[in-house]
Amino acid sequence: MINCDIRIARSFLSDETYIRSRTRADIGLEQLKTKTGPGSEWLGWRDLLAKPNDAELQSVEEVAKDIRTNADIFIVCGIGGSYLGAKAVIDALSSHFGSKGPEIVYAGHNMSGKYLKELVEYIKAPKADGSVKSVYLNVISKSGSTLETALAFRTLRSVFNELYGEDATERIICTTSKEGGILNALIDQKGYRKFVIPGDVGGRFSVLTPVGLLPIAVAGIDIKTLFYGAVEAYNTYEDDAEDILEYAALRNALHETGKTIDVFACFEPELKSLGGWIQQLLGESEGKEGQGIFPTVASYSTDLHSLGQFIQQGQRSLMETFIIVEKPFCDLTVTEIPGDDDKLNYLAGRSFHDINTKAREGTTEAHQDGNVPIVNITIEALNEQNIGALIYFFELLTGVFVYSLGINPFNQPGVEDYKKAMYRLLGKE
Ligand code: PA5
Repeated sequence: MINCDIRIARSFLSDETYIRSRTRADIGLEQLKTKTGPGSEWLGWRDLLAKPNDAELQSVEEVAKDIRTNADIFIVCGIGGSYLGAKAVIDALSSHFGSKGPEIVYAGHNMSGKYLKELVEYIKAPKADGSVKSVYLNVISKSGSTLETALAFRTLRSVFNELYGEDATERIICTTSKEGGILNALIDQKGYRKFVIPGDVGGRFSVLTPVGLLPIAVAGIDIKTLFYGAVEAYNTYEDDAEDILEYAALRNALHETGKTIDVFACFEPELKSLGGWIQQLLGESEGKEGQGIFPTVASYSTDLHSLGQFIQQGQRSLMETFIIVEKPFCDLTVTEIPGDDDKLNYLAGRSFHDINTKAREGTTEAHQDGNVPIVNITIEALNEQNIGALIYFFELLTGVFVYSLGINPFNQPGVEDYKKAMYRLLGKE
């Protein structure tokens, strides 16, 4: 399912340091399983895999089918944990160009007037035949009050009323907490369709709830296989979490020995958004109390031509995690050209996957020589089941690793600080 190979990174550590960290990881897993660590009221992301709710998966699929049949454009309106998981899975499993279903666009994830204005203009512009575009909107906010999302929703609601009149209501689907909050008041008032985010699942752990599942299903991705891929990973690691414990212990030890940055690198561009989801999952969970390894994302080989120099020879505070897909994505090969005018015939007949694999092996060799500890996380093929498993793998790793640092993984007090300051400056009472 998932292969977690820490051997290269482990060779940078003494046995004594690693064994000390391993004890901390063991305690972290125990805290998670027995719900005795700080923030244990937020462990619903484990429970929902222990007891899958097939009825909910079915109802998400039904709404998604309706949207796929009727929509030209589907807007996912949310920020942070309310959209990064969906984007990660959609980007990983969709084509780079064109789409067989509705076009998926994002809103409510920034404060840019330009972005929102251009989105409004785009959805208002008639189709080539002069008809009005069919647009559906999924507003996702657990609190129901996050400013970026709420402002985009206010703007888009008005546009929907203008374009569709009374029919606007059925085009808006809200995903929020069971009760309370401004968004729930609007749902009651207007009669929008609604999905519930379980109270004990935090935003960045919510991709396998309707938060992520509805947009993913609208993109035409098989959410049952995705979800059950995560269930399988859950069951596997409940029996034997050795891989998670080793990886958490390794990160703990590298943290202790001064590594401050973890570069999550993929070698296929469709996995970059998955890196973005991991970045938020780990970043918001571990970056507290003056601790944590700053997670950042790179897409190789593109970023080897921008970050490669630093990684090879800059300040030695980095580690790297490679996200690898073993099986070829496609069978494209290099063509042979008579005359070999660009001197590339030495590669003729070789697949791009093979060449890319050599790029990764070369990168590993060079970065290891440059004293960068590397972890390899490999899935066999890029599909729903393996992405589902990878989601749970990183959720569990996050819980265990952050507990091993003695930190509550499930709150985000620093984010609240920025919001308080912003609201004060904006004159909110
Ligand atoms: O992980 C988190 O908890 C955050 O990133 C939230 O998802 C993000 O701040 C959005 O919050 P909300 O869903 O309440 O709008």
